[in-house]
Amino acid sequence: MTNIALKTIYALITIITLIVPAQAQDNPLYSGKSRFHPVVAKNGMVASENKYATQAGLQVLKEGGNAVDAAVTIGFTMAVTFPRAGNLGGGGFMLVYLADKNEVISIDYREKAPLQATRDMFLDKEGNVDKEKSRHSILSAGVPGTVAGLALALERYGTISLKRALQPAIELAQKGFPVDYELSKSLSQAKSQMERSPASMKIFYKQNGEPYKNGEILTQENLAWSLKQIAQKGPQTFYNGDIAQKIASFMKQDGGLITSLDLKSYKAVTRKPVEGEYRGYKVYSMPPPSSGGVHLIQMLNVLEQFPLSSFGHNTSKTIHIFAETMKHAYADRSKYLGDPDFSPIPVSELTSKQYAELIKEQIDMEQATPSNKILPGDVIGDEGANTTHFSVMDSEGNAVSNTYTLNFSYGSKITVPGTGILLNNEMDDFSAKPGNPNAYGLVGGKLNAIAPEKRMLSSMSPTIVMKDGNPFLITGSPGGSRIITTVLQIILNVIDFNMNISEATNSVRVHHQWLPDVLNVETGLNEDTISLLRKMGYKVEIGRTIGVAESIIKDEGFMYGASDPRRPGGLTEGY
Ligand code: DON
Repeated sequence: MTNIALKTIYALITIITLIVPAQAQDNPLYSGKSRFHPVVAKNGMVASENKYATQAGLQVLKEGGNAVDAAVTIGFTMAVTFPRAGNLGGGGFMLVYLADKNEVISIDYREKAPLQATRDMFLDKEGNVDKEKSRHSILSAGVPGTVAGLALALERYGTISLKRALQPAIELAQKGFPVDYELSKSLSQAKSQMERSPASMKIFYKQNGEPYKNGEILTQENLAWSLKQIAQKGPQTFYNGDIAQKIASFMKQDGGLITSLDLKSYKAVTRKPVEGEYRGYKVYSMPPPSSGGVHLIQMLNVLEQFPLSSFGHNTSKTIHIFAETMKHAYADRSKYLGDPDFSPIPVSELTSKQYAELIKEQIDMEQATPSNKILPGDVIGDEGANTTHFSVMDSEGNAVSNTYTLNFSYGSKITVPGTGILLNNEMDDFSAKPGNPNAYGLVGGKLNAIAPEKRMLSSMSPTIVMKDGNPFLITGSPGGSRIITTVLQIILNVIDFNMNISEATNSVRVHHQWLPDVLNVETGLNEDTISLLRKMGYKVEIGRTIGVAESIIKDEGFMYGASDPRRPGGLTEGY
């Protein structure tokens, strides 16, 4: 090549690199007039609640792995470095956008009730729910789905080996990592319940019984063993091998219900995501056994009928419309949602525009409607945020939105001896007794009653919003019942209120779930608005934070991401 040609190429490259960041910053999705700035990148991005996980996932992307490779790596890493929610002994949901097929797939790796589970297993002699049993005993554990789910994702849609995906997790478990303030604090809060499990105590607390403190190194030898077994022998070791054996024999000895047969018969499955349209954007989210996607789309359909942007962000009028819409959705949740493998769920009816029109007609623009006046529609046919969500995008346009959990912080707090694996307490997400609220105040009916092999109803809502046929917004959150309303507000903040993803994440959130008849608002909502809402009839409670969103937007060739400041320790990074 001649000197001139080389110089021209060099000049072009220089011009492009000068223009690119400027373009990214010109986009209102970068900052606009906002005080908040998202992380910007061009080739790949990870948003998660944990820096080790984000770094491990990003490394995979940089090596040429796709979004699924990174997501699976993150999932395993968080089982080590974010043990309150990251897990091998829990379950979750993953939404995958495959660029080459232009298709969104959902992977359901939700836990299942064991074969020996019975409808009334958590009721005492008087017929009342024994919360201790459903939340903190060995019986609270469902058959775990995470290992099957992550392995299925990798096998069908990934490019790297399971060994490679497990490598950072194994290293971090074996060599250890410095505990941060959040982890230390959550361990000290969990201690009294962890004390029931000698195996948990041995891992997370020092010999004097104190949790590992900020900066101290936490190693997890048994967990490293389990991860290595999976790397060497595949997911079957968890379901029909050495790990399965340890789980089943511990269950037998400790009065649990999960047997070898339960583990052997567990399968993660793919399902067709629920779909909706909101102001020209296409929304994909998790179908049942999550209630998240259905009610997210139902609420968007109702809200689309209001000129929200002219009502203004977080004004009393807008919050009133949100709250009324939320009440209807959660009322329907209590009646119509459950495991679709057990009973038909009226998904298309609940997510139809016609049904949303009927709900709109019931909203009084001036007054709050008391929840006891709102009944589930006629459709034919105090825990913190302890789940975790992460979002990933790669350079080929693939995207992953994943939410997984042990339910409570550290799940049942019980570790299976010899494995380092914490068991979930997801059985509490069933409706132990019709009308009786679960830990998130959610009531449920027959469709979510306990039955052998049934998946308990969830609110986890990993979501992908498409713009002009391309993934635009990848988002999701922990927060139990508050997950759905958190995801809703992230979408509305971006689409209706023109916020960049950092501002959309930082903004004050509100939540109403029909029962109890309370409007939760985060601190920071102005007093004038609160008093207007009270005048409209709302019982406003200002209190704990709502959700922890980890989101990425892709627009005009750039990725913009943000980790939620509500839980420090998150990291969004791109390259
Ligand atoms: O699946 C569900 O809906 C719940 N088990 C999620 C729990 C959760 O988000 C915990 N964090 N607050």
